[in-house]
Parts: sequence; structure tokens; C-alpha cells
Amino acid sequence: MQLIDGKKIAADIRAEIAREVEEMKTRGLKTPHLAAVLVGHDGASETYVAGKVKSCGEVGFKSTLIRYEDDVTEARLLQTVHDLNNDTDIDGFIVQLPLPAHISEQKVIEAIDPRKDVDGFHPVNLGRMVLGLPAFVSATPAGIIELIKRYNIPTSGKSCVVVGRSNIVGKPISILMSQKADPGDATVTLCHSRTRNLDEIIRSSDIIIAALGKPQFITAGMVKEGAVVIDVGITRVKSDQTKSGFKLLGDVKFDEVAPKCSYITPVPGGVGLMTVVSLLKNTLKAAKREIFP
Ligand code: GUN
Repeated sequence: MQLIDGKKIAADIRAEIAREVEEMKTRGLKTPHLAAVLVGHDGASETYVAGKVKSCGEVGFKSTLIRYEDDVTEARLLQTVHDLNNDTDIDGFIVQLPLPAHISEQKVIEAIDPRKDVDGFHPVNLGRMVLGLPAFVSATPAGIIELIKRYNIPTSGKSCVVVGRSNIVGKPISILMSQKADPGDATVTLCHSRTRNLDEIIRSSDIIIAALGKPQFITAGMVKEGAVVIDVGITRVKSDQTKSGFKLLGDVKFDEVAPKCSYITPVPGGVGLMTVVSLLKNTLKAAKREIFP
């Protein structure tokens, strides 16, 4: 069994980006600049956005954080999106989700210029990804593909089950794994809460991508010998074993599943650490006009 070390790969990629930014600066090019919009004070969102801003500094990007209280109007937020679209110093930006109930997330996402949509949430980027065209791919699916690539895990012709059909993870990763590419070329089954014979489908799969958000759902009996297991779940549960009073649990019962696997991602230390570097990679692509020349 080989552990997929998200921490190491994320650090490698951050170093690669930092080198490239350094080189861009010596060539007199503009410093890549990411903006993040945060509405309200949701604890998880605060943590994620702080991590994104901090990572920008580590690779030499400029970053701007724009904050609003949770009573901000939809019109005000849409105006901010419009201003960011037109700000030539900003290469890419994100609006952290979830937004308060009185604001339409879809309206806000669709107001973002696809050329600056480094989250890859805009329908233009999702549509381009489905068509196999250059696109900003959202952070978690892009991070999973990067891990598979860097560990040279074969995917062509393999059976792959994706458990969970969210717009942010399940749907896009199922498309990426089945597209004509490397990694890709897998035969993908997308499972969800209405799937019959879920255990059997998982047990017959060469690659298991668990993104359903149910801690410890995948047990050893559901995994075939030699499978590749990618655990996307990160659920915070109370724990008296840690100083913080919380621990993170994946969707896979790691201790019993790991011995059966050829490769497995741990939680924490796997896919989760790749998401911020995926956002940084997208921001660099935006600054270099790689996706939309
Ligand atoms: N909320 C949870 N994950 C994400 C993400 O990747 N991007 C944004 N904008 N909001 C999120």
C-alpha cells in the first residue's frame, strides 16, 4: 500500500508556482493577483479564505480580501463582482460560498467573468470542461487529477466509482475521469443516495472516489484488494483526543481499508491540502491568459 502524500505534493506545487512567479517578475511581468470576497463570519469560510490569502503570499502573488457583513444586498455584491471583472490588476477572484439565503449564489456565479473565474464554477467553464476544452477546473477535482498524475496511477480502461454527485466534486470528477486524457479514459459509475447495489458497485471498482460527506462510510468489506482509494470527505467531529476538541474524518474507514489498497489518500493530509494549490494554479493560468488567450 502506498500513501498518497497530499502535503508533499502541495508543497512541491507551491514551490513550482513560486519559482515561476519569481521568473515572471524578473522578466518585468505583472505579479499575479487573486481577490477573494467573503460575506459574513461563517467559521469554515473564514478558515478557508484565510488559508487562500496566506498561500498567495507564500508563492509571491498579490491578494485582496473584500469583506461584507451578512446583511449585504445582492445588488451590492453583484456590483463588486462587476468591479472585479473590470479591474485590470485582478487576474482572478472567488466569492466564497455559501452566501446568505437572501443572495442567489447562481446569479453571483454567473456574473463572474469566466476569464477570471478561478473557482471554475461559471457555466462557461463547466461547459468547456465537459467538452474537453481548456477551462478553469474547480479546486477539488483538479487536485484529485493532480495527485493521480503525480503518482503515475494508471486510469486508462479502469473501472472508477464516484460516490456523491455534488456540482463541486462528484459531477466534475466523474467527467474528468471518463474523458479522453491521461489521467482519464476510465469507465466511470456515478453513484448517489438513490443508487441500488452501492456496495457491489464499489467492491467491483479499481478506483474509488468517495465524495459523499458521510464519515467512515466506506469499510474494508466494500473495497477490493488492490483498489485505489481517493477520500474527499472532510467532516469535523468532536473529539476528546485533540487539543482543538475536533478531528477531521474522511468518508473512508482508513485503518481497515488502507491495508487492502494499492494507493490511498489520508484525511487529513490528502485531497484537502490540494484544493488551495489548485486555486493558485488557476490564478497563475489566469495571469498568463492560458485558458482564454
Ligand atoms: N466553499 C467551499 N469550497 C469552496 C470553494 O472551493 N470555493 C468557494 N468560492 N467557496 C467554497
